[in-house]
Amino acid sequence: MGTEGIDDDASLLDSLDGQVALVTGANRGIGAEIASRLVDLGATVYAGARDPGDVTADEQRPLKLDVTNEGEIEAAIGAIVEEAGRLDVLVNDAGIYGPSGRFADLDPADIERTFGVNLHGPALLSHAALPLLTERKGSRIVNVSSGAGQFESGMDTSHALYGISKAGLNAPTNVLAHQYPDLLVNSVCPGRVRTDMSGENAARSVAEGAQIPMWLARFASGSPSGYFWRDEVVIEW
Ligand SMILES: NC(=O)c1ccc[n+]([C@@H]2O[C@H](COP(=O)([O-])OP(=O)(O)OC[C@H]3O[C@@H](n4cnc5c(N)ncnc54)[C@H](OP(=O)(O)O)[C@@H]3O)[C@@H](O)[C@H]2O)c1
Repeated sequence: MGTEGIDDDASLLDSLDGQVALVTGANRGIGAEIASRLVDLGATVYAGARDPGDVTADEQRPLKLDVTNEGEIEAAIGAIVEEAGRLDVLVNDAGIYGPSGRFADLDPADIERTFGVNLHGPALLSHAALPLLTERKGSRIVNVSSGAGQFESGMDTSHALYGISKAGLNAPTNVLAHQYPDLLVNSVCPGRVRTDMSGENAARSVAEGAQIPMWLARFASGSPSGYFWRDEVVIEW
């Protein structure tokens, strides 16, 4: 099926008043920018961070959330159920680059860790959040992926674990979009962004990097679901 023009079906919510969002990796980089923009749009924002003391932004609710820790995932969702009673947006932003190197030379602990943060964590968190997200039509999951995990334009083979894990993260986008047609589940490549991950020479500012994740977080019911986006255009897996 062709994907050209799918963006024409996108319509955006102007306000997120009354809505509740959870962002992982919200203490710095792209995640911090997304969390702060969600607040600006009126959402109650739970800012997931390994150290909630790192979340200093006003009007955000810091949540201890290492996405590799199942107990913390359960506790985080439990706290949202108890305090807010709803969840409209889940942004799986937390990620690590992992080591470079040929596959056989990699430390097995790094394989576990990189897949744990970038793939296993978002899968477990989405699993825990789905009962809340499915209470309302039009809830969104935004998976912050990367072109490094794109089969079509060449996987990142130097940071193999990163590329593999991001290719993996795109699979639940596709599967959940089909299993839950009332939800909007999308993956996004933010481009190369000047954060700790990509360094100061990357082409995009943090604000630019947060642009498309935010666009997807504002998708209104009936907007496209189950796609991989960059710059408001669907890209191949
Ligand atoms: N920057 C880019 O050029 C680029 C390009 C494509 C895709 N992306 C994706 O965009 C997302 C955000 O990247 P970024 O550039 O903002 O990176 P960043 O500045 O390095 O921030 C990474 C975030 O992930 C968090 N994190 C790491 N391990 C975690 C864990 N186990 N549990 C919870 N949080 C954890 C970090 O928290 P701590 O402070 O506790 O470490 C931090 O908040 C990532 O998924 C990345 O793969 C980035």
